[in-house]
Amino acid sequence: MYQELSTRKPITLTTLAKMKRNREKFTVLTAYDASFAALFEAAGVEVILVGDSLGMVVQGQSTTVPVTMNDMIYHTRLVARGCQTALLMADMPFASYATVEQGVRNAARLMQEGGAQIVKLEGGSALAETVRQLSRNGIPVCAHLGLLPQSVHKLGGYKVQGREEAAAQQIIDEALVLQEAGADVALVECIPAELTARLTEALDIPLIGIGAGPNCDAQVLVCYDMLNITRGRRPKFSKNFLAGCDSLQAAVEAYVRAVKSGEFPGPEHCIA
Ligand code: KIV
Repeated sequence: MYQELSTRKPITLTTLAKMKRNREKFTVLTAYDASFAALFEAAGVEVILVGDSLGMVVQGQSTTVPVTMNDMIYHTRLVARGCQTALLMADMPFASYATVEQGVRNAARLMQEGGAQIVKLEGGSALAETVRQLSRNGIPVCAHLGLLPQSVHKLGGYKVQGREEAAAQQIIDEALVLQEAGADVALVECIPAELTARLTEALDIPLIGIGAGPNCDAQVLVCYDMLNITRGRRPKFSKNFLAGCDSLQAAVEAYVRAVKSGEFPGPEHCIA
């Protein structure tokens, strides 16, 4: 059902912007090595995210906080070897963009040493100057808003964000500030579906959601969750796509189909 890799055009920011305009949903999946990245791309996933979730699912840590720049560069380099046409996004790890200068230096490392094509940062309007400088240096940016897992100790746990109207409006305002500063893509985690719908409408840039309901331009899942190999409890907003499939490729194809048709996430995967 999917186009042969050799005839596929590389996915770029222009592709994603066009898909948003055409209201065609795209799929994002995390990967941490070359084999999984190649399999996901072959199944039709448009964006591969080297998430700092690797701290938990690969390294066995309890949060993403211990993940280092060297960890991210190592795994991004592995994934880059498995990617031919998917857009390769990589997370900037905890405290690697504490200052604007650090942010530009570390994002450049992720691109030059890791092969990332876009970097993702967690935070709101306080990051506007960093995003502006990254953009000025030709570094594409995804702004991660809503639940910020790198701030778990400050937040006191993994909690749904933007439930109250003031908090919801703040997330929208901060997303608009980051778009204005040059962010190319936004990602929201664990917010109510109604807020996601407002954000998708307000933003010109594509919006990716996780635990944020169906009303966005794209969905992302941690691959270990959707393949049901996460240790412990799988998040409510995720789904075991391997159930009923006889191969990993079939499971990922089912995920791609479910996102594109709007079937996933369903009401049972909404968190608020
Ligand atoms: O690190 C990660 O996997 C992420 C997802 C939760 C979007 O940032």
